[in-house]
Amino acid sequence: MNNYIQKNSNYKKYVIDFKLQYFKPHASKIEKTFAEEISSSLNRTSKFISPKFFYDKKGSDLFEKICSLPEYYPTQTEITILKKLLGELPSYLDESFRLVELGSGSSVKTRLILDVLAQSQDVIEYFPIDISEILTESSEQLLSDYDGLHITGIIDTYEGGLEFLKNYDDKKNLIIFLGSSFGNFSLNDGYEFLQKIHSTMKSGDLFLIGLDLVKDTHILESAYDDLRGVTGEFNLNVLSRINDELDADFNLNNFSHHSIYNEEEQRIEMYLKSLVNQSVIISKSNLLLNLRKNELIHTEYSHKYRLPQIHKMLDDVGFKTKHTWLDDDRYFSLTLLSKN
Ligand code: AVI
Repeated sequence: MNNYIQKNSNYKKYVIDFKLQYFKPHASKIEKTFAEEISSSLNRTSKFISPKFFYDKKGSDLFEKICSLPEYYPTQTEITILKKLLGELPSYLDESFRLVELGSGSSVKTRLILDVLAQSQDVIEYFPIDISEILTESSEQLLSDYDGLHITGIIDTYEGGLEFLKNYDDKKNLIIFLGSSFGNFSLNDGYEFLQKIHSTMKSGDLFLIGLDLVKDTHILESAYDDLRGVTGEFNLNVLSRINDELDADFNLNNFSHHSIYNEEEQRIEMYLKSLVNQSVIISKSNLLLNLRKNELIHTEYSHKYRLPQIHKMLDDVGFKTKHTWLDDDRYFSLTLLSKN
């Protein structure tokens, strides 16, 4: 057994076979339950529901659908940039890097980075860090497509997983955080998150972050309010989830999807708008929610950045920028960083 695991008794190791294993904390940190979080976030004057609750099975499927919508440019644009990296990323790497992904990668994007590593490594190590569902069909598919691949899943929060990785071994990590998921953090949480990544990196490790850029308001607003209504369905689905899991009686017909680009704050803001005066019971949160007609429940921010802001933010944390890649329209960016 790996020495580190013996020392780090917070995690239990599960070996599926010689190419697939995962680590899971024995006991998760004391976190508020879904019912408690909903109770406190809806029992206030400016009501909100955290975007992390979007991603039940149906929400994750809807997000996949969003990623292939013509209006939702971030996914395809980031893929275009990643394809360019096939030729360029190898010059920053040697054959000793493992891939660490924040979020689980079932997607084309993970594969594009694995293809980069496969150019110089017969055996590739891939460590997805995700709080849930990382060792599903996507791992099996990856293992059958990449001969030399070994997957070690870390089923924990990003922060927990990064901490776990910090003292795991001496191998260099290429950490990736794609899709501009970073943009869903509040400014403060985002900054703290970058500090966490920076402090858990060893010198020699690299970090690749995908960030969406400021652009024409119409393009941004269409991406978050598509013609087919998939983003609306995705937004409203969080109410169905609360109905199912917290024994609530939201009538989805009494709400609409509302999203706008706030130019000053440089972010898309997504809300659920109450179409009538209404009361909703959320039994497991012990809450009777009263909503006025046109009252908004905030569900998501998606921040957009200007290149100088990106470089300043990363520089302030202490990262050293190795390179930033853009697509031809300058819609999206990928920045490669080292610790110092
Ligand atoms: C996951 N995240 C980066 C998406 C975004 O673009 O902010 C979530 C999303 N919300 C609506 N559409 C997509």
